[in-house]
Amino acid sequence: CVDMKVKELENQINLNDEKLTSIMHKMLNEMKKGLGKSTNDQAKVKMIPSYVASLPDGTEKGSFLALDLGGTNFRVLLVEIMDRNEHNNKPNIRMDSQIYRMPKDVITGEGEKLFDHIASCMADFLKRLSLLDKKLPVGFTFSFPCKQHGLDHADLITWTKGFSADGVVGQDVVTMLREAIDRRGEFDCNIIAVVNDTVGTMMSCAHEFPDCQVGLIVGTGSNACYMEKLSNIELLEDSTGDMCINMEWGAFGDDGILNEFRNEFDVHVDENSLNRGKQLYEKMISGMYMGEIVRLALCKLAKDGVIFNGITNGPLFKPGSFETSYVSQIESVVSSGMTAVQNILANLELGALRSDCEVVIRVCQAVSRRAAHLCAAGIAAIAHKIKQNQPENDDLKITVGVDGTVYKKHPTFSKIMAEKVEHLCQGTGVKVEFALSYDGSGKGAALITAVAHRMAQLAN
Ligand code: BG6
Ligand code: GLC
Repeated sequence: CVDMKVKELENQINLNDEKLTSIMHKMLNEMKKGLGKSTNDQAKVKMIPSYVASLPDGTEKGSFLALDLGGTNFRVLLVEIMDRNEHNNKPNIRMDSQIYRMPKDVITGEGEKLFDHIASCMADFLKRLSLLDKKLPVGFTFSFPCKQHGLDHADLITWTKGFSADGVVGQDVVTMLREAIDRRGEFDCNIIAVVNDTVGTMMSCAHEFPDCQVGLIVGTGSNACYMEKLSNIELLEDSTGDMCINMEWGAFGDDGILNEFRNEFDVHVDENSLNRGKQLYEKMISGMYMGEIVRLALCKLAKDGVIFNGITNGPLFKPGSFETSYVSQIESVVSSGMTAVQNILANLELGALRSDCEVVIRVCQAVSRRAAHLCAAGIAAIAHKIKQNQPENDDLKITVGVDGTVYKKHPTFSKIMAEKVEHLCQGTGVKVEFALSYDGSGKGAALITAVAHRMAQLAN
């Protein structure tokens, strides 16, 4: 009976190949809608032009400041790009960085205060490196949906991932940052580029793998970007060359088209979130929500008397108590035996028997597997789109640069996703490979800044 109840729950969570294929086609449709001039309004996947067109050509050099806001950590970085290594032609980049805390009252308070805080972290970092008097070019990784009007103009469309600072939606975040730096009056800088983390990640990988034309984040949030032909981007006038599109795929399904694939836990997570009805695809995938989905499923099984002796209260019943890191930890320690799982569950004051642990593991696996499969459907849609853009290319190889805590810390996410992508791309002749980004998107933001800086200097 226990096994039957758990199987029932696994079935409720699992998305089979038929469903994943249908999700992939829906994503492909949404992408086309988002790119079309007359259809963009109705599209939930906004397909935002990033104004990043040229990849680094290896001739960029100099010192750049990078900011990285929107993931688990806020970072300020100094990125020094030097001549390529003359022996192996590898990029030669030196980085230093510092993580700064982003207190909850700062990310959910007054917008101006948020930017004052960023400016104060920049000042602290520059002071520590004795660079306060240098006017450095800055690349700003701002990992939220923005309508870009150029490389250094980005109006925030909406906050995601638990940020909610007042007075920022609709504003240009570069102007807000400049104003905060001016208010402070302690240092000067030249903000050259604002980039999404997906774009920064893709660039960061492209520096090493020239095939890299897709960026993917599976972390606190989830999103992807890819190189699209300008002739397909109807919102822009130019029609020659390529541009990187920040898809903002987290909002896929916000018009209800994924409802048939969402379960009672997804509905509960959304209803109890800060941004109800928004980012529905992201809420089925990313780290901000994965632990909560597992927790809700476990509560259901406990209430049904399947696990934990039928408990109906205690820390497990507190929203947010089952961290996503537990999912990764539990699935990582499976091979070392149940004691390790029991120790993790002890964080929630759960006295778990071996049989309880076995069920918890199955629930974690079901939820993380579904997340990997959903991501795979999205990546496969991108692969199909790139193939449609290059029908003549029979030997298309696509490298996806990836970052994010879920992808990096979960023991099997990357493998499950890659296998499903391969399956969903069968018969297309496209080969998709994944490259883990080691340096974060700050490096990519600095490279984008370096390219723009080089071009601006050439133009002058
Ligand atoms: C980091 C990038 O490595 O990954 C960030 O530099 C990005 O820009 C982040 O937002 C995503 O991961 P997480 O898990 O921290 O949200
Ligand atoms: C959210 C943001 C998006 C970002 C992603 C990953 O979906 O809206 O801009 O890329 O999280 O951090």
